[in-house]
Amino acid sequence: MGTFTVRLFRYHPEQDEKPRNQDIEVDDSFRKRMVLDVLEYLKTRDPTLTYRRSCREGVCGSDGLNINGRNNLGCITRVEDMLGKGNLLEIRPLPGMPVIRDLVVDQTLFFDQYRRVMPWVVNDRPAPARERLQSPEERAKLDGLYECILCACCTSACPSWWWNPEKYIGPSGLLQAYRFLQDSRDTATAERLKKLEDPFSVFRCRGIGNCTAYCPKGLNPMKAIGRIKAMLFRAEI
Ligand code: FES
Repeated sequence: MGTFTVRLFRYHPEQDEKPRNQDIEVDDSFRKRMVLDVLEYLKTRDPTLTYRRSCREGVCGSDGLNINGRNNLGCITRVEDMLGKGNLLEIRPLPGMPVIRDLVVDQTLFFDQYRRVMPWVVNDRPAPARERLQSPEERAKLDGLYECILCACCTSACPSWWWNPEKYIGPSGLLQAYRFLQDSRDTATAERLKKLEDPFSVFRCRGIGNCTAYCPKGLNPMKAIGRIKAMLFRAEI
C-alpha cells in the first residue's frame, strides 16, 4: 500500500509567528473516504489540530474548507475525487475570512450580513387558527433556496465579498434574501427591497459566478441575485 500527502494549513496565533504548512503522509486506504475522515484521523495523531464539524452528513454547514483550491464541505468530499491523478491533498481554511486557528475562520461578518436580510417570515396579519397555508405552487417557489445550510463556501469564494465584506451581503445572504422575497406568507416585500437598493448590498455583485460553481448543495446564488436585481429594477421603492 502506498500513501498520499496531506498538506495542512496550521496556525496557532499564540505560538506561531506566521502560518505554516504541515505535510503528512496518509495511507492510501483513505482515498475512498471523505476529507473529514482524514482530518478526524489526523486529529487522533495530533489533538491540537483544529477544525469545525458537527453532523458529518452535509447538513450542519460547519466544515466548509478549501480543498485543493475549491471550497467544499469536508464531510461529503471524497478524497480520491480531489486527488485526481495527483498525490497531494491540500486543506486550507475558507479564503477571505480571518483565521482564528488552523482551519477555523472568523465568520462574524458572514453572519452579520445574513442577519441583515431578516431571515424570517414577516407577517403582521392575525394568525389563522392552525397555520398559514401555502399552495403546492407557492411552496415550490422555495425549492433551490431553502436548502442553503450557511456553510459559507459560496460567500468565501466571492471576490466581491472579499473586497467589501462590511457592505456587500454576499451570495449566501442574498440567496436567503430571495428565499424570503419569494415566500407567499411574507408581507414585507417592499421593506426588504428597500434595504437592498443601495449600490453595495446587492449591486456589488459582478456576476463572477464562483458562488454557484462552489455551492456544495448545488444551489444557484447567482441566479437568485439576478432575480433580486430584476425585482429592484421593477419595484417603485
Ligand atoms: Fe456538518 Fe459537514 S460536518 S456539513
